[in-house]
Amino acid sequence: MDLQALVRNVPDFPIPGVLFRDISPILEAPAALNHALEQMVSHVDLDAIDAFVGVEARGFILGAALAARFGKGFIPVRKAGKLPPPVQSLSYELEYGKATLEMRAGRGRILLVDDVLATGGTLTAALTLCERSGYEVVDIAVLINLVGLHALTFRGKAIHSVLVYD
Ligand code: PRP
Ligand code: MG
Repeated sequence: MDLQALVRNVPDFPIPGVLFRDISPILEAPAALNHALEQMVSHVDLDAIDAFVGVEARGFILGAALAARFGKGFIPVRKAGKLPPPVQSLSYELEYGKATLEMRAGRGRILLVDDVLATGGTLTAALTLCERSGYEVVDIAVLINLVGLHALTFRGKAIHSVLVYD
């Protein structure tokens, strides 16, 4: 199945000069969504995973779908101020300003997921936050990798991505 053909390319969104990769058509087509979820975990031994962690907001869509599809738990990493205490927090630098991610402390082996890898800032911060919060991060997977060979690595391996754009 050609998932890339379903991605809608939207120029100049959300700001001029940015080409937005809209995965809505994949989410709307049950067979495509199912295929995308299977591809996101094709490299992982699911018996070695207790839960999926997804990053607010678009990482929730895929993370929760993966959790339900493969019979695992789902744990949210949220933007600041959304989760009730106690939470672990981690602030990180954006191109302009700062952002903070939060999650509940816990235990278990997790697969960290998000929709898109761009600069890698979000996933780097989420990975650190998961580890500081007590989780063992087994792997990281994204649906779309916007940076191709320049992508981040996780423990010396490329982060698993289903669709790669250079
Ligand atoms: C988007 C996307 C990834 C992140 C990737 O999230 O969903 O989480 O950017 O960019 P990076 O690799 O440069 O960090 P964003 O917070 O913009 O929007 P969302 O709340 O819709 O997920
Ligand atoms: Mg996001």
